[in-house]
Amino acid sequence: MSWLRNEVLRHADIVEVVSEYLPLKKKGSNYWALSPFKPEKTPSFAVSPSKQIFKCFASGKGGDVIRFVMEMEGLSYHEALQKLARKYNIPLPEAPEKQSSQSRERQRYLAIYQEAVRFYREKLPGSPAEAYLSQRGLQPETVEAFHLGYAPPEGSLLTQHLLRLGYSEEQLIAAGLSTRSETTGRLYDRFRGRVIFPIQDEQGAFIAFAGRSLGNEEPKYLNSPDTILYRKSEVLYGLHQARAILRKDKPALIVEGYMDVISLHQAGFTEAVATCGTALTADHLAKLKRYTRKLTLLYDSDAAGQAATERAIFTALSAGFFVSVATLSDAKDPDELLRNAGPQALYQSLEERQSWVSYLVQTTPSGLPEQRYHLIQKLGEGLSSLPDPLLRRVYAEEIEKVLRVPLDFWDSYQQAAAAARRSVPLTPQHITAERELIRIMLTHPVVSFGGMPLWEVLQKEFQYLTFAHPIAEVVRQALCEWTLPHPPNFGELAEKLPPEAQDWLSEVLMEKYTLSPRWRAWDDTPLEEDPVTIAETNLNLLHLNHLQRLLEENLSILSSLNPEEPVYEEHLSLHQVLLRQRAELAHRAGVLLPYKTSEGGES
Ligand code: UTP
Ligand code: MN
Repeated sequence: MSWLRNEVLRHADIVEVVSEYLPLKKKGSNYWALSPFKPEKTPSFAVSPSKQIFKCFASGKGGDVIRFVMEMEGLSYHEALQKLARKYNIPLPEAPEKQSSQSRERQRYLAIYQEAVRFYREKLPGSPAEAYLSQRGLQPETVEAFHLGYAPPEGSLLTQHLLRLGYSEEQLIAAGLSTRSETTGRLYDRFRGRVIFPIQDEQGAFIAFAGRSLGNEEPKYLNSPDTILYRKSEVLYGLHQARAILRKDKPALIVEGYMDVISLHQAGFTEAVATCGTALTADHLAKLKRYTRKLTLLYDSDAAGQAATERAIFTALSAGFFVSVATLSDAKDPDELLRNAGPQALYQSLEERQSWVSYLVQTTPSGLPEQRYHLIQKLGEGLSSLPDPLLRRVYAEEIEKVLRVPLDFWDSYQQAAAAARRSVPLTPQHITAERELIRIMLTHPVVSFGGMPLWEVLQKEFQYLTFAHPIAEVVRQALCEWTLPHPPNFGELAEKLPPEAQDWLSEVLMEKYTLSPRWRAWDDTPLEEDPVTIAETNLNLLHLNHLQRLLEENLSILSSLNPEEPVYEEHLSLHQVLLRQRAELAHRAGVLLPYKTSEGGES
């Protein structure tokens, strides 16, 4: 999210802002007023201080404080943002009416960062950071090539230095180099007692920093916030140094960590780049695509690395990349492999890289029919995310080879999947389940659901579902694309949603519809609820629905096929797996199946 938006949402209190326009009355946990958008006799305009959103049930409008000011004043998004920024004394990082002032702003940031890099590098010789880097096997030329430095532990050396050069306190804070102490009100350095990894854009300009602790202090890496120059979700660390060889058609080597990139470059693998602590996104890939259309994923060997590999496969396939995967034996990350076994071992692991198809086949268990089903589903997802039909064909052939799934299976499979998506029935129960899942994910994100935070579990589940309600579907997709390490919140999510989805989501979050019998009484004290049960019940319901649709589609394909054809077998076993899954799920959900059974006849 943009820096300014972030600051505005952090400082502005929606109740305070709305009160300037409307007389608010507190009832339960929310505030109420007569709708400013539609004439009415009973108040149906609600503001939630805890969620920092408003919802007007008369007009349907809803959203965060920025949206409110837009609607009230008839302002554009940027105008509303600036109005609020001025109200809360947040320095405006750019004047949008003048392109040149924006580029002056950029120039100033670049100059600050360049000065900061010079400062950090000057502090390196003889420092604990220098010893640390050499103990991690980095040669002086490598340290030089990546401009590594040291932030001394004293409170505000860099801040003092930059203030003396004439930069203002606000500029230093906005640039993410200084922080204001809440108790004393004075500025201190953001990075203290850390190894500094300057982050460069493709052209080599310094646009952000990461600081690694020298010991075990948390966080291990402290990162710059997003600014007008730096958006984590699109910057690849090492791309500046990797550009030369990537232009020569070398596949990019995507790794997880800064240290991995640096060690790899030192060992001669100059095609290595890393994301800055986020998942691989379409924006990263759009940058990379200017140099190459091939990439190799080389993520950490732990479970998180494997999960990230799968996600990156699908993202990269959708972006039109040729994707292969290399794995690490006996090391947790590439840096460790290089340290322990030398460049030869890494070279070998790259030699043994596999296409994404064989990687998925090899790492997904497939002994049982249902496991084989999931594997085929995953491969199907990979195939259907390919924008290029020729490429789809190439990979389908590979799947035929390694898994003996006949080529034409995919045509009928994809038809079935598409038809199933089209024929989603819009039952009220179904729609409520979609709403409930989204609501519970956002209102109880960190409750434990089977040992994991609920929001992460639901985010995984959402990858496999398609929502029937068109707006719920837009929100589902935004939630699936959420790559930040913390649970989604309304403010950050809203930035990615069209206004009608913001209206819808603010209503969902106001919890009104769950209380419909009591709604008339304007009593919206939240009900005691059990988020895990709600999540489980509604998930089961959607899964059951989904399976039912797959079953019906698959049956109709079966009936159109000649049993002599090789694809018939696949669809038949798919049918059996689906039946079994449906029965299991229904059992778990305590639902009696009103459907046709495999033995025929209505039950
Ligand atoms: P890792 O924890 O795998 O660290 O995080 P690493 O890169 O191997 O680092 P070393 O070898 O211990 O020094 C991988 C990446 O995730 C981001 C960083 O980009 C890091 O390189 N990360 C990790 C953070 O942003 N913050 C953290 O606290 C940890
Ligand atoms: Mn490491």
